[in-house]
Amino acid sequence: MLVDKGVHVMVKLLSGLFLCSRIMSAASQIPKNRVTLLIETILKKQLNPLTHLEVINESFSHTGISPLDEPELSSHYKLVVVSPLFENKSIVQCHRLVQQPLQDAEVFNLIHALQIITRTPQAWEKSQNVPEAPKCQGGDGRRKK
Ligand SMILES: *[C@@H]1O[C@H](CO)[C@@H](O)[C@H](O)[C@H]1NC(C)=O
Ligand SMILES: *[C@@H]1O[C@H](CO)[C@@H](O)[C@H](O)[C@H]1NC(C)=O
Repeated sequence: MLVDKGVHVMVKLLSGLFLCSRIMSAASQIPKNRVTLLIETILKKQLNPLTHLEVINESFSHTGISPLDEPELSSHYKLVVVSPLFENKSIVQCHRLVQQPLQDAEVFNLIHALQIITRTPQAWEKSQNVPEAPKCQGGDGRRKK
């Protein structure tokens, strides 16, 4: 009887530990491109119709500020989202449409920074220029001689 109880407690303890370690390592076990895929999946599902979507990994331009122990959390992403849903809405409202589903899915726990650019299909047709991300390390991108 006593042994049975002991085993039972042990199993409970182990499964608790397992769950705990699973939660704690969830962020660090995200393989490369998982974040990109996750963002795409969420937005394709939540923003309908979606005319155009780009998830751009800009981490390469921000290497100088990566926290050493959590490199996977330091990624910088740029989102370009084009949808008729943005018609007649303020920038704040448009950003909220994109941000809310990502926030609900806790995407912001996985990334360091996200720049969101929203355009209506008409505006996108006129110009596909999107602003550059602010440079973290200074310089204007011109090569030094
Ligand atoms: C984003 O780019 C950085 C730097 O090139 C790279 O280390 C990282 O793995 C990339 N992340 C994804 C999800 O592709
Ligand atoms: C946006 O506003 C214009 C002008 O008021 C209107 O013609 C159009 O139907 C509106 N579009 C949407 C999607 O509400």
